[in-house]
Amino acid sequence: MPRLMIEELDKKREAARSRVALREGAFQIQPSVPGGVPVQPAAAAQQARRIDLMTCCGTGCVAGGAFRIKEALEAEIQKHGLRNEVSVVPTGCNGFCGQGPLIVVMPEGIFYGGLKPEHVPTLVEEHLVKGSPVRKFMFVSPETKQVIPHLADIPFFRKQQPLVLRNKGIVDPEKIEDYIARDGYAALEKVLTAMTPERVIEEVTRSGLRGRGGAGFPTGVKWRVCRAEKRIPKYLVGNCDEGDPGAYMDRSLLESDPHSLIEGMVIAAYAIGVSHGFVYVRTEYPLAIERLRKAIVQAQEYGLLGEKILGSNFVFDLEIREGSGAFVCGEETSLIHSIEGQNPEPRQRPPFPAQVGLWGCPTVINNVETLATVPVIIDRGAEWYSAIGTATSKGTKIFSLVGKINNTGLIEVPMGITLREIINEIGGGIPGNKQFKAVQTGGPSGGCIPNSLVDLPIDYETLKEAGSMMGSGGMIVMDEDTCMVDVSKFFIQFTNDESCGKCTVCRDGSDALLEVLTRISNGEGRDGDVEFLEELGTAVKDASMCGLGQTLPNPVLSTLRYFRDEYVAHIKDKDCPAKVCKPLIKYYIDPDKCPGCTLCLKNCPSGAIKGENKHVHVIDQAICNKCGECLEVCPPKVSAVVKLSGKEAQVLQSLSAPVPVREWRARRAAETGTGTRRTP
Ligand SMILES: Cc1cc2nc3c(=O)[nH]c(=O)nc-3n(C[C@H](O)[C@H](O)[C@H](O)COP(=O)(O)O)c2cc1C
Ligand code: SF4
Ligand code: SF4
Ligand code: FES
Repeated sequence: MPRLMIEELDKKREAARSRVALREGAFQIQPSVPGGVPVQPAAAAQQARRIDLMTCCGTGCVAGGAFRIKEALEAEIQKHGLRNEVSVVPTGCNGFCGQGPLIVVMPEGIFYGGLKPEHVPTLVEEHLVKGSPVRKFMFVSPETKQVIPHLADIPFFRKQQPLVLRNKGIVDPEKIEDYIARDGYAALEKVLTAMTPERVIEEVTRSGLRGRGGAGFPTGVKWRVCRAEKRIPKYLVGNCDEGDPGAYMDRSLLESDPHSLIEGMVIAAYAIGVSHGFVYVRTEYPLAIERLRKAIVQAQEYGLLGEKILGSNFVFDLEIREGSGAFVCGEETSLIHSIEGQNPEPRQRPPFPAQVGLWGCPTVINNVETLATVPVIIDRGAEWYSAIGTATSKGTKIFSLVGKINNTGLIEVPMGITLREIINEIGGGIPGNKQFKAVQTGGPSGGCIPNSLVDLPIDYETLKEAGSMMGSGGMIVMDEDTCMVDVSKFFIQFTNDESCGKCTVCRDGSDALLEVLTRISNGEGRDGDVEFLEELGTAVKDASMCGLGQTLPNPVLSTLRYFRDEYVAHIKDKDCPAKVCKPLIKYYIDPDKCPGCTLCLKNCPSGAIKGENKHVHVIDQAICNKCGECLEVCPPKVSAVVKLSGKEAQVLQSLSAPVPVREWRARRAAETGTGTRRTP
């Protein structure tokens, strides 16, 4: 493939347009039509290549069998002689991961989820051969229980504004032609032909773009500082370390649209004056690495990377560096050490990497989402972009929406959207009619925002004032069954494991926080623990050298701020109100309800349940490991197993041995005025 000049890229684009024509409207959300847009059944073989089956091959769907589904689709299409009419197009993550593995039939826009390879013959036969879309594979609203055939009518996709993820589910990430057909590399063309590097920096600055890697530093300012440095060489690094538990925005970006990152990096390099760049990807992201590697080779072949890019005098090339998996490797100075082959420990700043970075040279480090936003800004203009969002936080943000929420997945929303809109509308609310309790934003560096702040518009400042942070975009939703002491303990355990140990206050402070939280959740909390956590958390924040230590107390401090009562209940009443902390809970079989069916006894893994058919069963508390299996298996109509904590659990006394149900009931009938739960 000869390297392209600018005019040739334009010609390629025109020629490639037909590749994506059938799929363009996939995420164009129409005004709601009651009952959904009428389905237009396929009439196979009427015209050439009429249907594209957009098959999600993101990591989540691949884990669920997406590659086998793709193979099965191809085999069935071949079998029915539909190869000229129907194409199977592998894509990156569609976003609605909770419904995966999934496909979208374009141009009809019909969404099929929860697929297995064995569903494919029916799907092809019914939909593609007979023209009858198959309702049983369609999305069912968890609220209304109605079937929603079209992607455009599914509430999860409404209120989203895919800018960075503009090509997700539409392009095949391994085909550069698909990206080019969607106006890919047009922004680079504009930059190389009509903009000076200073103009590019000016445009990015005016757009208000702030770094998506966590701290929200203005991107244009960082680029200007580095450009002003006289020393060469300079470097550019795309940060895709993404070590936060529950986050996968950056991985999905690389898996679904790697060229958007490459284009953003070439533009950034032109603006800053860099000729060599790295993408730092954690090694646990093999699919993202594979797709990015292929994309880099394609871009090099097309003359979009390397010498004389698009015939200009601009030179820039890119290589991948795989990260070793520690959370702290994502911190920019640690990342620099990692690329240099040194121990990946952070160092004191200033000097900032934009002045003294890789091998002592000026280096811009940006998150990959930040960089992939740049082509959109150049293409649509700073004014257009900055009209989206709030006064201080412009544009859109990608979040991974996980936890106790009906619709889990990856979402891109305008800044300023409220938590309520995300949780209730996009996320479809909380499963099992439970109450929303809190949402953890910003991963281990962030905090828990309570139900009372559900109308908070999301931007960098509001989240910080609420005691959390934007972070890179993890959003973990919690319901009433979540214990906030346990949540704090989980995150402190994580950061304690991940602390590099260089600063005493981070290393020993996180040890001490963990020790106190563990004691509290074990029912061994003491007076003064709450105050100690607050004091120590503040000290760790203030005295740590890098962002890991400076933010690690956030989960503790934010839960103390909003859920102090829960800490007090654990310490004073030995009560875990959410009934999560095992040392504080007990399982108990209500003798008045137990019919002696033996189900719990058969399922108890530790042999803690005594009983036989038609005998009231009894749990031996000394043997019970509190796995909760008995509660799960006891039939809902019976509901004899209960979980208790605090005073209820302390006064509880079980029967000492099983008794026949008849005998027990006779005894109870003979008793008058005694409680029904507590037994002598
Ligand atoms: C412990 C720790 C982990 C971090 N991990 C990441 C990461 O995985 N990805 C990322 O882009 N930034 C991460 N950061 C932030 C980076 O240090 C840096 O600020 C960011 O990459 C700059 O890019 P931006 O200006 O585009 O946000 C981390 C920071 C800390 C303190
Ligand atoms: S704050 Fe913690 S992670 Fe950061 S340098 Fe110090 S010890 Fe290491
Ligand atoms: S909680 Fe688990 S171990 Fe305990 S009685 Fe029930 S099933 Fe057995
Ligand atoms: S991986 Fe398939 S929808 Fe996210």
